[in-house]
Amino acid sequence: MRSTKPRHVTLSMLFICLAPTLASPLATASEAKTLHQKHCQRCHDDSIYTRQDPLVLSYSALKQRVKLCDGVAGSHMPEKQLQSVIDYLNERYYKFQRK
Ligand code: HEC
Repeated sequence: MRSTKPRHVTLSMLFICLAPTLASPLATASEAKTLHQKHCQRCHDDSIYTRQDPLVLSYSALKQRVKLCDGVAGSHMPEKQLQSVIDYLNERYYKFQRK
């Protein structure tokens, strides 16, 4: 019985060490989600992306719109973050062919 404790500790240590490595491939999607919540939901919620008469009809229009809204939002995200938000919206809602 006593011997289970050290093994437990070792396992959790291993997990702590692995956690950052495991998190990195997923970072962009979850980071984009957080960025979107932080900067983009002040004026409109997600329903604007699936509305009847969408403003955005292509991947390049989506890029332009996100850049424009980033300016309006005053968030001024660096290119990498902008790109992750663009892809997050595209994968989740618009599903345009990426060009
Ligand atoms: C200051 C208010 C404001 C903020 C903040 C804002 N938006 Fe917008 N956004 C708008 C308005 C207003 C429209 C609709 C424009 C229209 O209908 O002519 C819009 C439309 C859009 C559309 C087009 C929706 C469609 O019809 O297909 C996208 C995509 C979008 N916003 C993304 C974003 C993203 C990403 C962010 C965060 C970086 C963001 N918005 C933050 C005001 C805002």
